[in-house]
Amino acid sequence: MRPTPSVPTPPVPAAPASAAPAPVVVTSTSSDAADRSGWAARHFDAWYDELVAGQSAGRPDPACWQRAELRAELERGSAEERVHWLLAHRDGRAVGAAEVRLTLLDNLHVAAVELAVGPEHRRRGVGTRLLGAALDVAAAAGRTSVRTAVEHPVQADPARWPGLLAARRWGFERGRSEARRQLQLPVPAGRLEALEAGARPHAEGYRLRAWAGPVPEQDLDAVAALAARMSTDAPSGDLRVEPEAWDAARVRENEAARAAQGRRQWLAVAAAPSGELVGYTMLVQSAHEPERLLQWDTLVVREHRGHRLGTLLKVACLRAAVADAPQARRVTTWNAVSNAPMIAVNEALGFRWDETVEELEADVADVRAALAR
Ligand SMILES: CC(C)(COP(=O)(O)OP(=O)(O)OC[C@H]1O[C@@H](n2cnc3c(N)ncnc32)[C@H](O)[C@@H]1OP(=O)(O)O)[C@@H](O)C(=O)NCCC(=O)NCCS
Repeated sequence: MRPTPSVPTPPVPAAPASAAPAPVVVTSTSSDAADRSGWAARHFDAWYDELVAGQSAGRPDPACWQRAELRAELERGSAEERVHWLLAHRDGRAVGAAEVRLTLLDNLHVAAVELAVGPEHRRRGVGTRLLGAALDVAAAAGRTSVRTAVEHPVQADPARWPGLLAARRWGFERGRSEARRQLQLPVPAGRLEALEAGARPHAEGYRLRAWAGPVPEQDLDAVAALAARMSTDAPSGDLRVEPEAWDAARVRENEAARAAQGRRQWLAVAAAPSGELVGYTMLVQSAHEPERLLQWDTLVVREHRGHRLGTLLKVACLRAAVADAPQARRVTTWNAVSNAPMIAVNEALGFRWDETVEELEADVADVRAALAR
């Protein structure tokens, strides 16, 4: 059950009563590399400032991507997805930012859209205008579904949270609720050892390995197969998710993208008695935000569940990471609210729920119709 609301919603001006404001003008990147770098030189810093202003309002620890990480992504490009950046201006002043992500290897029906408008520019149609421009990008790429996410502190009242109110107004209905949990570091002495000792007898014959850095060549195909299972075996709620297409090249592309952003990784894997890899987990740390470890991608394939491998994987990975990253002060992770087994592991480790993420999806045509109303 959610705690009683006590966090104020971000300061939002009442709907304006005076004369019609100046029109909102949206500039955006295209897929042309030269054009993107010209856009980045002119607009990137303003775009990032608007993104963070919109994302951070009313959230004590918003866990935004860092400026240098997103700049690296814009400059490098990716074989896995095409990203379009959109910046809204009014009267020559930046007033809002958006991003459209188009996966290129699977889920070709989806455009993932992020919208951010700082509190002082809200309720004046900027978000609506940015969403319209984002839908143009999605439609031009042949995408029929649009996805977005709204994040809010667990204490905030969802019935008053601006992003949720706007999303409903724009016609987003189906989705998945995720809980963000954080674990303060260092973990109290003895906790990891106790968890491991309790889990070990259930995992007889299984072997755990953890490492820092890229996946060893001999494990590459197996890790790619496990990454593919993440998209089918983790709860997807009401989102229309197609299986993701993973191979060794995609694992390496992800690693190269992360390295370009200044992020390093640790992985732990579990091998069955046969030697086959049946589970993995990953922690990531950014050079631009070293106090945070990101806990990503924990999976134990269905056939090998019930052996406490989830606990053993997380303990092994966390040990490896904190030994290399003594600056880390907390670990941040996200799970579907319905994912009881994973949540039980996280709670036992000491993670506590502090934010909710509503992932939302709608047909592009339905959102267009809602915007027209
Ligand atoms: C969501 C967000 C982008 C909206 O930006 P915005 O510029 O205020 O959006 P608009 O002015 O176009 O408002 C669109 C409609 O959403 C609804 N809405 C938005 N905020 C609202 C609020 N605080 N109270 C009531 N309704 C609200 C209204 O119906 C509004 O239309 P109206 O002002 O004509 O009544 C902005 O609040 C934001 O950046 N939030 C944080 C990031 C986020 O949650 N992004 C995901 C959005 S799906």
